[in-house]
Amino acid sequence: MANKLTITIDIDVLDAATDLSEQEMQAMELAKQAAADAYAPYSNFLVGAALVMEDGTMFKGSNQENAAYPSGLCAERTALFALSANYPKAKIKLLAVTARRRNEEEFLPAMPCGACRQVMAEYEFKQKEPLPVLLQAADGKYYRFNSVAGLLPFQFTSDHL
Ligand code: THU
Repeated sequence: MANKLTITIDIDVLDAATDLSEQEMQAMELAKQAAADAYAPYSNFLVGAALVMEDGTMFKGSNQENAAYPSGLCAERTALFALSANYPKAKIKLLAVTARRRNEEEFLPAMPCGACRQVMAEYEFKQKEPLPVLLQAADGKYYRFNSVAGLLPFQFTSDHL
């Protein structure tokens, strides 16, 4: 007989930007700036990601598309790889992600793709500390995941190699 395993995902739902901490607000603002600079001439879907390091320094990334579509990269991985390349020892205290369509003001739910979740999981595993993720959600709300584990349960890590 099969046993059922129910998992609980711990997410803070923040109803408005005013519910974010000062640092979260700044990170979301930087993510919005990053989205404005996205290179997304094919999808016109602009995604921005901001990373906050331990000392409060912030780092941003945006999606980078390519005429050979699969050669492009999402905002989250652009930011994470660039951070790791430039600051290999950095601990990430927050990843904030936002998205909108070009020429539209409204910010849209920014749900990271599976590949980005896997990459987030790698860096969370590497830093041996939770990597909180703050996502723009619908209707001006935000989702705060206190760990990447909430975004990617049963994740594959180097422990499984
Ligand atoms: N994209 C991101 O940058 N992050 C996500 O979380 C989802 C999708 C990008 C990839 C592509 O440039 C565009 O959005 C449309 O899929």
